Amino acid sequence: MATVQTQSSEHPLTTVKLEPGERVALCRCFASGKFPFCDGSHKQHPGKGPVIVEAPKSAPTGD
Ligand code: FES
Repeated sequence: MATVQTQSSEHPLTTVKLEPGERVALCRCFASGKFPFCDGSHKQHPGKGPVIVEAPKSAPTGD
């Protein structure tokens, strides 16, 4: 399950860590009540939508 950590500052930084193979929809309209995850609220804002992020099923080998 994704874990979320936000550093409070003038320009907050949110980090989302995913499990291998996990897929999430991240909000980029700032209207979500579940930020940083999309909750469908973007449908009120034409032209807006989430970004889908998917972690690889296995860790990169670093080659
Ligand atoms: S709620 Fe913001 S992109 Fe979906």
